[in-house]
Amino acid sequence: MELKINSYAFGERPQAVLPVPEFLQAIGEEGARKLVSKHYDLLVQSDIKHLFPTDPEELEHAKLRSSDFVIQICGGPQHFNQNRGRPMLSNRHQPFAITPEGRITWLECYRQAILELDIADELIISFWNYVNVFSNWMVNTPSKQTGFVTGFQLPKR
Ligand code: HEM
Repeated sequence: MELKINSYAFGERPQAVLPVPEFLQAIGEEGARKLVSKHYDLLVQSDIKHLFPTDPEELEHAKLRSSDFVIQICGGPQHFNQNRGRPMLSNRHQPFAITPEGRITWLECYRQAILELDIADELIISFWNYVNVFSNWMVNTPSKQTGFVTGFQLPKR
């Protein structure tokens, strides 16, 4: 199974489709918590680890907030709305500098975590399609442009 990462223009907010309800039915709320926990355990070892809590207790809280959201969007109880209020996720990500490259790392960590699930491919793909697309909404910082950009000329002084 190939899980590709889509590429989007900076600022593009593509329409995402929620995962099918069978995904949560297959893994259960406990499985969703484990999945998010695995994702964060990979994130804190990745090249975007500077974005995430280093304090173990804070990390547990972050896992809880994120898994509340995952359970909710997968058709489970509205844990996130109850505990945190309206998601407004791009606003909640504003304090963090999320670049297109950061999104790719974040998705690669998810890809590794979901491929460990012992469920049907189509369910994995359904979850992947959601995060692959919706993650672009969180990108709020352009790439660091190092090196030469083809076709771009500095104005003459
Ligand atoms: C489908 C895409 C994404 C979803 C559904 C998502 C979900 C969430 C949720 C629910 C929270 C907790 C917000 C709160 O309660 O305040 C959160 C926090 C956070 N997210 Fe995301 N996120 C996504 C993409 C990303 C990406 C691409 C990055 C970085 C590359 C990122 C970095 C963070 C950071 C640094 C936090 C704060 C620490 C934490 O509480 O975990 N997120 N995210």
